[in-house]
Amino acid sequence: VALAPFTTFGVPAQARRLVHVSDEAALAALLDDDAFRHGPRLVLGGGSNVLFTRDFPGTVARIELKGIAVIDDQPDTVQVRVAAGEIWHDFVRSALARGWFGLENLSLIPGTVGASPVQNIGAYGTEAGERIVQVDAVEIATGTLHHFDHAGCRFGYRDSVFKREWKDRLIITAVHFRLDRHASPRTGYGDISRELDAAGIVTPTPLDVSDAVCRIRAAKLPDPARLGNAGSFFKNPVVTQATADRLHAAHPGLVSYPHGAGLVKLAAGWLIDHAGLKGLVRGQAAVHDRQALVLVNRGGASGEEVLALARHVQQTVRDRYDVEIEPEPIIL
Ligand code: EPU
Repeated sequence: VALAPFTTFGVPAQARRLVHVSDEAALAALLDDDAFRHGPRLVLGGGSNVLFTRDFPGTVARIELKGIAVIDDQPDTVQVRVAAGEIWHDFVRSALARGWFGLENLSLIPGTVGASPVQNIGAYGTEAGERIVQVDAVEIATGTLHHFDHAGCRFGYRDSVFKREWKDRLIITAVHFRLDRHASPRTGYGDISRELDAAGIVTPTPLDVSDAVCRIRAAKLPDPARLGNAGSFFKNPVVTQATADRLHAAHPGLVSYPHGAGLVKLAAGWLIDHAGLKGLVRGQAAVHDRQALVLVNRGGASGEEVLALARHVQQTVRDRYDVEIEPEPIIL
């Protein structure tokens, strides 16, 4: 089965088998399936955070469970249970339309709701984990249903328990969010305040923030429907204050953010850009010309070609700054 249509990078790869899990019965059948339980397997959401560099010798399960249910409705907050296969951006917009606020800064992120806790998706000063109160997941080996509360998810920067001790052992079936009924838009992130100013909006609503985020993303980030990509290909590296001081002295324009006790997060996009790599083309793969953190498939790239470019970017950054940058997507 061709996997390219099910990933946003759109590189060619075949799976031995692709299973669409669109309801409880399909989920139960999958959990009963020995080839899935014991063989090579991969659980896929929107395919927006994965790069295939070869064929996949097993079962790929695409989670397409749908449904949004209100669990607890209070005057100030609402708690909703969202099935894993809901499309993230559609959920964000429908929440806004119902007057449920808090996710507006995460508009237009590709992928599904079920994938959102895994790497704790984040943008413009907000992370999904801040709003996640529970994750429902079934353990593949035993069929046991687990409920992870907020603390149990152990959210960090692009990180969670689902990437660590529970990696490859669960199917996330639903995510519970607590959202606000009163608007308190977060506009501190430079790009957002500039965009709102430019639009002449003084007192933005959450919908204004969502629209601004959509405009910013559309201007900087390639639309996967037109140019294959997986968003940021690298995580912003977290370094010690001493390392950051050394780099700032050598590279005065470097962009960085405080990241807790004695740690600093560097803008990898800046590092790559100022190493002269923005727009670099290698075969059919390229460093995006408007955001150097994104690698793109110019059409017909292989996964190996993208990976070779990624390694070149990592090596160049290492040589120039003595800093390691790690890929964000799963590379298979
Ligand atoms: N920069 C450059 N050149 C570039 C790219 C960035 O100089 O080519 C500079 C920018 O001018 C800015 C700084 O680097 O001062 C940071 O850039 P930006 O605001 O675009 O954000 P980022 O740190 O590069 C992160 C997330 C994005 C998220 C944005 C906005 C990661 C790995 N990436 O990117 O998330 O949308 O912040 O909040 O943390 C994703 O994860 O797929 C993703 C797109």
